[in-house]
Amino acid sequence: MKIFIDSADLDEIRQAFEWGIADGVTTNPSLLKKAVDKRVSKGESLDLKSYITQILETAGKTPVSLEVTETAAKGMITQGLKIYEMFNAVAGNVNIKIPVNPAFQNDDVTHFDGIQAIKTLTGKGIPVNCTLVFTPEQALLAAKAGATYISPFAGRVDDDLRKKAEMKFDKTDYFSAEGTIHEDMLLEDNGIVSGIDLVAQCVDIVTHYGFPSEILAASLRNTRQVREAALAGSHIATLPFSVIRDMLKHHKTYEGMKLFTNDIVPDYVKLTK
Ligand code: E4P
Repeated sequence: MKIFIDSADLDEIRQAFEWGIADGVTTNPSLLKKAVDKRVSKGESLDLKSYITQILETAGKTPVSLEVTETAAKGMITQGLKIYEMFNAVAGNVNIKIPVNPAFQNDDVTHFDGIQAIKTLTGKGIPVNCTLVFTPEQALLAAKAGATYISPFAGRVDDDLRKKAEMKFDKTDYFSAEGTIHEDMLLEDNGIVSGIDLVAQCVDIVTHYGFPSEILAASLRNTRQVREAALAGSHIATLPFSVIRDMLKHHKTYEGMKLFTNDIVPDYVKLTK
């Protein structure tokens, strides 16, 4: 499974690439705002074009998702083309992030505008990351429209299930991939019992029909979700920096380090240093 870093924070992105474990970057408007606010709060003035250029250079040949902010097909296509023209020349690694459905509510007229934008941009050879996917059906339509990446939002599914059940939780708390019984009821959203269940069902659909789209498990909040996304066969997982850091931690590893360090034979060190 490829690992993308889910961040617009240049320091985090640089670190992940230095460690050699990042295969790409995903950003979204909220992540970009967080990164910009952090710099501005330190009194730094920020030239957004040069900042994004540095992210692209850091990612090298690996894909970087930059999201549109427009919500109608025409606007998303125009903005997607502009983002691609402006930034893809830097390192040839830009993909355009398009919401699967940019409507704000059920009776909006813009439901298929995301699908239209995906179809048009991919038709021009521009890779697209289809974002805000919450059902396997949305993933199927995104795959049919030609999305390069399809991003099911696992953590937000778990949030939604827990919130509707009025459970107390922290966003990083593990939520069982197999589903949770709460007050004698299986928590589910139209047959989806967890965020990882959504990821797994999306993987099954693209695999079953041989779509070239890759499933990019998004909105992952803890390391066990990363493991489960990998076991579900997700092609990619995009991870916040904190989750990447947590992936290496284990108390027995620390204990083992202490034990080995206590047993070091000084002559061995002399010989090998
Ligand atoms: C990445 O592509 C998504 O935008 C991101 O993973 C969303 O994560 P969140 O639900 O933690 O905000």
